[in-house]
Amino acid sequence: MKAILYKKSKPNSILEYTESDKPVPKENEILVQIHASSINAADYRLLRMGFPPKSKIFGADIAGVVESVGSKVKNFKPGDKVLGDLADSGFGGFAEFVAVQESFLVHKPENLSFEEAAALPLAGVTALQAIRDKGNVQRKDSILIDGGGGGVGTFAIQIAKVLGSHITVICSERNIEQSKELGADTVIDYNKEDFTNTETRYDLILAVNGNHSLGEYKSSLKENGRFVLIGGKFWQIIKALFLVKLLSFGSKKMHVLMAKVNPKDLKIIARLAQSGKIKPIIERVYPLEQTWEAMQYVAQGHAKGKVVIKVK
Ligand SMILES: NC(=O)c1ccc[n+]([C@@H]2O[C@H](COP(=O)([O-])OP(=O)(O)OC[C@H]3O[C@@H](n4cnc5c(N)ncnc54)[C@H](OP(=O)(O)O)[C@@H]3O)[C@@H](O)[C@H]2O)c1
Repeated sequence: MKAILYKKSKPNSILEYTESDKPVPKENEILVQIHASSINAADYRLLRMGFPPKSKIFGADIAGVVESVGSKVKNFKPGDKVLGDLADSGFGGFAEFVAVQESFLVHKPENLSFEEAAALPLAGVTALQAIRDKGNVQRKDSILIDGGGGGVGTFAIQIAKVLGSHITVICSERNIEQSKELGADTVIDYNKEDFTNTETRYDLILAVNGNHSLGEYKSSLKENGRFVLIGGKFWQIIKALFLVKLLSFGSKKMHVLMAKVNPKDLKIIARLAQSGKIKPIIERVYPLEQTWEAMQYVAQGHAKGKVVIKVK
């Protein structure tokens, strides 16, 4: 099969479009013919750190068609259209085929294209778990989303809207209209205004890609407010992991999210997309052979929504 393989010896093009062995599914695995996959920060962060998956093929989000199933697989059959998040099952999405356990897949909503379906899993589930679990959001809460322009941010705006929140989004000028269309009530351009210097306080702050200090975020919370760090600069995340417990002294609670692959949450995201309550925002679609270029674009940190790889 064709695949994008990690080649450490090639510094100018660490990912190479080449031939690789087609995986053979074990008795509890499904062989999926991948039609589309999408890029996440997990891909380029692991690439930068020099930690490729065992298969040497990156790519967590996939959408495709079941080609064959092992004898112990219960819920899928050949021909089923599926989507999934392979971040906890060794990646492998930047290829024509992958073998994966059924717990990492759900059925694809018929009304979504394979490209749309591949944009959903990791970013959608991350946004859901941040808002619902760590954020413990209540109806009519005021939510600030710092970094509403990318994959996770665009889903976070839409999920917060479904839950009836009042939403403030922080983004650059190029994402203002998009944020409003997705449901933001207020949008602040981070190049023009610093929300931490205003009097407004929030029930919940999601730091998707923000770069304020933890103290500044905490000061912008109401009493009993919650802060959830989803992403940002590497050192900000490491610092937060050590400091959030200490900073949670008092009524304001600070959290760092570690999203978990979970078929129940993947089903919720798929259902929300099927009903049209959320929609994947796709800025660019690259062919499989240009995965390296796509990865470099996303790694610059300013993708608008998701960047998808079309495999078939
Ligand atoms: N905790 C977890 O389990 C988990 C899971 C998934 C992802 N993440 C993390 O979440 C973060 C976002 O992931 P993603 O897939 O959404 O990334 P992404 O799609 O690459 O995010 C790009 C977006 O970030 C915005 N941005 C960049 N700098 C910003 C700033 N200073 N302030 C506000 N917005 C800014 C950009 O908007 P502008 O062009 O408007 O600046 C762009 O639209 C990453 O750091 C990722 O590692 C964490």
